[in-house]
Amino acid sequence: MQTKLKRLFSDFVDRDSIFTNKDALTPTYLPEVLLHREKEIEHLANILAPTLKGERPSNVLIFGWTGVGKTIVSKVVCKELEDFGASTNQPIRTVYINCKMEKINTEYRLLARLCKELGLEVPITGLPTDEIYKSVYDLINSEQITLIIVLDEVDSMDQASAALYDITRINYELTNKSKVCVVGISNDLNFIDSLEPKVKSSFSGEELVFAPYDATQLRDILNQRAKEAFQPEAVDEGIISKCAALAAQEHGDARRALNLLRVAAELADRTGKQVVTELDLERAEDRIDLETITAVVKTLPRQSQVVLWSILEIGAENVQFATGDVFDYYHRLCNTLKFKPLTQRRVSDLISELDILGIITAKVISKGRYGRTREISLALSQKQLSKIRAILREELML
Ligand SMILES: Nc1ncnc2c1ncn2[C@@H]1O[C@H](COP(=O)(O)OP(=O)(O)OP(=O)(O)O)[C@@H](O)[C@H]1O
Ligand SMILES: [Mg+2]
Repeated sequence: MQTKLKRLFSDFVDRDSIFTNKDALTPTYLPEVLLHREKEIEHLANILAPTLKGERPSNVLIFGWTGVGKTIVSKVVCKELEDFGASTNQPIRTVYINCKMEKINTEYRLLARLCKELGLEVPITGLPTDEIYKSVYDLINSEQITLIIVLDEVDSMDQASAALYDITRINYELTNKSKVCVVGISNDLNFIDSLEPKVKSSFSGEELVFAPYDATQLRDILNQRAKEAFQPEAVDEGIISKCAALAAQEHGDARRALNLLRVAAELADRTGKQVVTELDLERAEDRIDLETITAVVKTLPRQSQVVLWSILEIGAENVQFATGDVFDYYHRLCNTLKFKPLTQRRVSDLISELDILGIITAKVISKGRYGRTREISLALSQKQLSKIRAILREELML
């Protein structure tokens, strides 16, 4: 073995790590108690408790910003419910499906996923939807079960209306004592309004809204994890408070708070330090922001990427500019790239979307009888700018 590498590995093994249990900072780790979600846990548990008497509970929709504990709370409550049901001979089965991560976006895919969960493999496409619906129905009707279907990130489904309609309809058609209940989880408060009226009424669930955590609550959550994850002196109260404050500034996102702490500690640990410093935290913040923006830009649709490139090019020369300037540049760029250009109206919509994503700021201003336009400027640091330029150059082959 090369001596240099040998030394690196042996130093690594000998060195005391900052961490005692790094797993405690990962997204899948389940702490003993979930702080500051007692009310939400109780509320959801109360809604689902009738299953323990073999009754059908209401359907539920859970809303809230990202990182406010929607997923973890639903998982905890369902798990406890299943365990309690098992101990009292009331079989309850929960199926957890993350629609976005598992790419379950159509009615068919959801039904196929349920079939698989209930023990019947079906092709992932190809059968008539009616047939697959019948299979799910038969599986549920042939045994006596209470099935709780958790649909996480349900708003990402293209056919949310049809899918929800199907699984709620099963209940009305069952002839045995089986029951089906849906727990939908979404970031989008307008999700309900996007459903077809007949679905809204057949679904008619209870709604739970999770508020963002404030800085004090985030501090408690971080402290609980830190006790588990680090050597006693590795992370002081100041670092925890700063992580909490940074995450609270955005929208009380516990995932962001935990990420900041984990990345800062990794940076400190990697350089052989025994304590995490403010500098590590600053570097962690930069790194996470850069990773986030990279992921956002990479997943933008092509046309938005072309619009964004146009904005970057104009932004390099001007501090502020208007929709028309972007459109002119965009139009010429489409010709060069041999893309079919969108209308100015659509481009204007894409510009608003980029604003919502926080990549640019686009303020609508009235120009009196000349209508309205947007005053556009970039909302990025130099580091982010050069990273985005590099990504777009690669994606658009510029
Ligand atoms: N009250 C809490 N106590 C401890 N950890 C928490 C708490 N709330 C959230 N977390 C942690 O924060 C992270 C984000 O939580 P969760 O995944 O439940 O958020 P979410 O609301 O589902 O977000 P998204 O909308 O992005 O899916 C997870 O790692 C989770 O363990
Ligand atoms: Mg979630």
